[in-house]
Amino acid sequence: MVIKMNNQPFFTLEQIDEVAAAVRAGTKYQPKVALILGSGLGGLADSIQNPDIIPFQDLPNWPLSTAPGHAGRLVIGQLENQTVMVMQGRNHFYEGYSMSQVTLPIRVMQRMGIEILVVTNAAGAINPDYNPGDLMLITDNLNLVAMMGFNPLIGPNLDELGPRFPDMSQSYDRKLGELARQAAKETGLELREGVYAGLSGPSFESPADLRFLRAIGADAVGMSTVPEVIVARHGGTRVLGISGISNKANLDGDTPTSHEEVLEAGTHMVPKLVKILRSVLRKI
Ligand code: HPA
Repeated sequence: MVIKMNNQPFFTLEQIDEVAAAVRAGTKYQPKVALILGSGLGGLADSIQNPDIIPFQDLPNWPLSTAPGHAGRLVIGQLENQTVMVMQGRNHFYEGYSMSQVTLPIRVMQRMGIEILVVTNAAGAINPDYNPGDLMLITDNLNLVAMMGFNPLIGPNLDELGPRFPDMSQSYDRKLGELARQAAKETGLELREGVYAGLSGPSFESPADLRFLRAIGADAVGMSTVPEVIVARHGGTRVLGISGISNKANLDGDTPTSHEEVLEAGTHMVPKLVKILRSVLRKI
């Protein structure tokens, strides 16, 4: 039974634990690190060795991925010297899921004892210096959907997991960010740094939206990640965030943006992202 308040379903700890138990039953591993793969970045899961694979539809309460380019399964296994749980595909607010559903996987990770969450996403470049194919370390985010009243922590607070009013002054872990910088240096890859603006989508931004986002300090824009990061921080999970820049945001209104272009750019970024993440995992 799902509790509904303001027509939003909220999960109880028991429901979350039911999902965590189903994941545990489907794998011999006890991962400490989780990775969420964004649009077009699912290929990274192919690097996982000896994986246990759990389709989302085998898990109770788990929302199914409907977005093209999101496989919709957990891949749990070894990457470098770490045991990792990879979410190949994620759920978005624009699919019609509630914020509690979008962030249920993070709660499950927390109940499974996962300590570090690596979030990746495809994003449009607002910073004019960025180009498609660039990787950007997320140093902070603009929480626009939550500012408009859709904060994933709205609803009964799960006191066992975190406080009613959690701090968000360091959403993205500084030590993990430093490891990513070192990893980029060692692998000879350029890693941009900037602020990710989280919108609901699914429509891409208008030129006026983009000029606004640029004025308020966004470097990249996307339709995910921020709700997951808020819930991760609420529960004390450390977060590393990396955006794959898939397109230049269209501030002048001359070039349309398409999801196909986003997915296509993602496949080219996977090898770079794998290099950096492998190196980060070796350092954790
Ligand atoms: N806007 C929003 N989300 C996105 C974009 C974009 O330009 N590119 C990839 N995800």
